[in-house]
Amino acid sequence: MKTFKVIERETRESVIVCRKNVFSAELAPRRGRLLGGGGIVFTDSNVFALYRERIERALGGVPVCVMPAGEENKREPALFALLQAMAENGLRRNSVLVVLGGGVAGDVGGLAASLYMRGIDCVQVPTTLLAQVDSSVGGKTAVDFFGVKNLIGAFRQPARVIADPVFLKTLPRRELRCGLGEIVKHGALCPSLFEVLLENRGDLFDLDFLARVVPLNIAFKASVVRVDPRETGLRKCLNLGHTTGHALELGGGGLSHGECVLWGLILESLLAERHFKTDSAFLKDLSSLCFAALEGGGMPPLALENARLDKKNTSADVTLAVPVAAGKYELLRLPFAQYEREVREEAEKLC
Ligand SMILES: NC(=O)c1ccc[n+]([C@@H]2O[C@H](COP(=O)([O-])OP(=O)(O)OC[C@H]3O[C@@H](n4cnc5c(N)ncnc54)[C@H](O)[C@@H]3O)[C@@H](O)[C@H]2O)c1
Ligand SMILES: [Zn+2]
Repeated sequence: MKTFKVIERETRESVIVCRKNVFSAELAPRRGRLLGGGGIVFTDSNVFALYRERIERALGGVPVCVMPAGEENKREPALFALLQAMAENGLRRNSVLVVLGGGVAGDVGGLAASLYMRGIDCVQVPTTLLAQVDSSVGGKTAVDFFGVKNLIGAFRQPARVIADPVFLKTLPRRELRCGLGEIVKHGALCPSLFEVLLENRGDLFDLDFLARVVPLNIAFKASVVRVDPRETGLRKCLNLGHTTGHALELGGGGLSHGECVLWGLILESLLAERHFKTDSAFLKDLSSLCFAALEGGGMPPLALENARLDKKNTSADVTLAVPVAAGKYELLRLPFAQYEREVREEAEKLC
């Protein structure tokens, strides 16, 4: 018997540019190449309503495919409608998909780009704070399927990410808070970012401040993704606050992902205090940042049984990445009943 090996290495380069008005500066000169089957723009209905003129000014004549806005539409109908529009407009292997939107359009568009002709270039233009600091960086793409979040997806780095703070001006405060959940999480893992956040804790929603911290967040996330592009090790640190956060999110109560992550960070810091030698002053500062971002919003119902559904957990145990000191985290594994009891006890102390 003869055996052969083919080794595939990820050789794609992903360039991220971040600057005010970079959207028009980067895309208008590329317009010619995107006409006549060279490209298509994909966005959601809210972003299109807000930015139609801006899109036309930079990319007039390039076809546009619009998906209905909202997390509930991150499913196969939006994916296949985009693939159909790409085929109808004669996109080729060297054509480009330009995606403008938050994490929803970004995830659907990124997946379509990875499927069409087995993969074409994708330019991501993230328009929410969460998408700029988190979802557009790292090459994860997905749609929800069979009632399961992100069940169908692929890893594929976008050819280019264009993060323009101009888009944040129209973002509702609640959506800014969503991005702040990830920003504070990054701060817990990156001491230099943490200092900047702490010094400016009164200005977390200020757009000039955010324009300054978006590149710091991209730099941090990119540094993690460079080391672990397929989430086999280090990248798991980005789950900080998310095990408890996801459980709260699934429990109803109407809080956003970012708000639940902020509560997750607060509660998981308290668990860390119980189980590890921690820098208590740091964890106090971390919680104070979370509370500043929450602006007095209350804790959601503690639907902790949902932590059992987390992919990382067996039915008996829960494993969490918890913050312990500036830039440091530990993995905490607890029997599920103990996790639930301890979180409840800590939550009661907060009320
Ligand atoms: N791929 C990844 O690595 C990754 C990481 C984190 C989250 N995600 C995914 O991202 C999604 C959440 O992303 P999101 O929070 O950006 O949600 P979203 O894309 O639904 O955007 C939130 C809302 O803001 C609107 N919007 C977008 N840009 C706007 C702007 N500039 N002004 C006003 N409104 C605007 C949208 O239409 C939507 O109503 C989830 O599906 C999540 O699974 C993916
Ligand atoms: Zn998150």
